[in-house]
Amino acid sequence: MSDRWYQQAVVYCLDIDTFADSNGDGCGDIPGLIGRLDYLARLGVTCIWLNPIHPSPDRDDGYDVADFYNVDPRFGTLGDFAELLHQAGNRGIKVIIDLVVNHTSDKHPWFVSARSSPDSPYRDWYVWSETEPADRKQGMVFPGEQSETWSYDRTAKLWYYHRFYKFQPDLDIRNPEVRAEIKKICAFWLQLGVAGFRMDAVPFIIEETDPGNPDSPKDFDFLTELRQHVQWRRSDAVLLAEANVEPTQLVTYFGDEGGSGNRIHMLFDFLLNARMVLALAREDPEPIIDALRDTPKLPAGGQWATFLRNHDEIDLSRLTAEQRADVFAKFGPDPQMQLYGRGIRRRLAPMLGNDRRRLELAYALQFSLRGTPVLRYGEEIGMGDDLALEGRDAIRTPMQWSGLPNAGFSTAAPDQLVRPVVRDGDFGYDKVNVTRQRHDASSLLSWFERMIRTLREAPEVGTGSCSHVDVPAPRGLLVHRADDDTGTMLFLHNLGPREVTADLSSIGAEAELPNDVLADQEYPEPGKLADLPVAGYGYRWIRMRRTA
Ligand code: GLC
Repeated sequence: MSDRWYQQAVVYCLDIDTFADSNGDGCGDIPGLIGRLDYLARLGVTCIWLNPIHPSPDRDDGYDVADFYNVDPRFGTLGDFAELLHQAGNRGIKVIIDLVVNHTSDKHPWFVSARSSPDSPYRDWYVWSETEPADRKQGMVFPGEQSETWSYDRTAKLWYYHRFYKFQPDLDIRNPEVRAEIKKICAFWLQLGVAGFRMDAVPFIIEETDPGNPDSPKDFDFLTELRQHVQWRRSDAVLLAEANVEPTQLVTYFGDEGGSGNRIHMLFDFLLNARMVLALAREDPEPIIDALRDTPKLPAGGQWATFLRNHDEIDLSRLTAEQRADVFAKFGPDPQMQLYGRGIRRRLAPMLGNDRRRLELAYALQFSLRGTPVLRYGEEIGMGDDLALEGRDAIRTPMQWSGLPNAGFSTAAPDQLVRPVVRDGDFGYDKVNVTRQRHDASSLLSWFERMIRTLREAPEVGTGSCSHVDVPAPRGLLVHRADDDTGTMLFLHNLGPREVTADLSSIGAEAELPNDVLADQEYPEPGKLADLPVAGYGYRWIRMRRTA
C-alpha cells in the first residue's frame, strides 16, 4: 500500500482560539486542544490542520502574522506546542499548520523596520512603488472591506502593495532573502515535528508584483525550490495549498505540465466545492459529473483535498451568474447570509435546513469523492452560525462541547469569550453539543464516526481513480466508483427528495459479493445490481470487490 499518508488522511481543521479553553481566560488554547485529542482520535481524524498559531494583532483571525517563530501567547507556549505534537503523535494524529507568507502583519518588526528608513535591511522585503500605481484599485480579495491593493505609507513616503487587507503588506518573493526566510520558517516548524503546511494564498505568494500591472507574472520555480527544501528536511512532509485559480492553471501548481509532481502535493478542490454546493442546491448531480470530467489529470502523487466548508465564505465566484443565483436562492437568500458578492457565510447545517438526511448525503458525497477529505470543526455535530457576527466570523464561533455554560468551551464570563457561543434557536448549545450526541448512537456525531471508519476500510477512495458511472440513471442520482489495486467501491447518492431505483446490471458482472457498507437505511442485498432502490436524499456505499 502507498505510504503517502496524506492520500489516506482525514483532515480536521480547527482554530485553537475557538476550540477548547483550559485556563478560563475565554480564549481556546493548546492545553485545551490536547485535552480533546481523544475526541478527535475517536472521530477518526488522522491529521489536524491548525489555522494560524502565531503571535498576531488578530485583525484577520491570525492571518496577519507578527512573529513566524512563535506561538500566540493566548494559545500557550512553544513548549505547549511541542507537547501537542507529541500527544497527537501518540494517537497517530499528524499536525499541519497554516503557512501565511504572502504577507505579514503591518506590526511585524520586519515591516516596522522596512517603512522606517530606506536603509532598513528589511526595506526590500516588501513591495513598494514611488508613484501611485495605476492598478491601485484593482484585485481586491475582500470587496466591501478593502478598497485598494496599494496604500500610501506616510512614514516611508511610498506606496506599498497588499493583496489582502491594508494591514497585510505583501512580502516580495523576488528577494532571495525573503525566499530564504520562508524556507527557514518551514524548517523551524518541521524540526519541531509538524507534518507539513497548509499554504495560504499560494498564487499571490509567487506573484512578482509590478506596480501598474494587475496581472503580474508568477514564479512557479519558488514552489519547486520550497518543495525540495521541505522534502529534504522531512521526507514525508506535505504542502497543502490554497490556490483558487482557473482550471487551466491548476496542474502547474502540482508540477510542470507533463512532468513529475515536483511542487505542491495537495490542492484544495475549490472547483469541486462550488459544484457540489450547486448540485445540492439544484438536487441534480450534473455539476459534479462535469467537475469529475473537467478535472485535469494530476502528476503522480498529486492529490485533491475536498471540502464542503472551510473557515472562509463558500466561494461561488467560478460559477456562472445563473448558477450562483440558484445557490444563493436555495442556501443564502438573505443578503446578510452572503459575502463579497460571491459567497455564503453560513455553516452547512443551517444551509441544509438542519435536515439530517441532507447533511448525511452531503458529507457522504464529499468523503466518497476522489481526494482527501477535510472537515471543519463543529460540522460533525451540525453546528450553526451566528450571522450577527461580522463577515466570516459568522462560522467561527466556539466549539459546542456540552450543555454547560459557554457550551463547555470555557469557564470565563460569557462577555469574556473570544467570540460568543451560539446560544439560541435550533443550533443553540443546549441542543447541539458533543456530549449529547456522544450518548446517542443515532446522532450525527456517531454517524460521522461510522462513516469515517468505513472510509478507512476503502483505501481506493483516497488513492484510486474516481469516475462517474455513465449508465442511464434516474433523475437526481449520482453513481460513481473508486478503483485501485486494492478493490472497487460503488457509490450511489440521491440528491433528489424522491426514492429512485437504479439498474446497474451492466456492471453487475464486476461485483464479487456486493454489499452495502454504509447507507442511509437498510436496503435489500444488492445482488446483481439490477434493482437498487435509493431513498430520497439517500445514499449507498457498496463494496464491489476487494483483493486479498
Ligand atoms: C486566505 C485565508 C483567509 C485569509 C487570507 C489572507 O484566503 O483562507 O482566511 O483572510 O488568506 O491571509
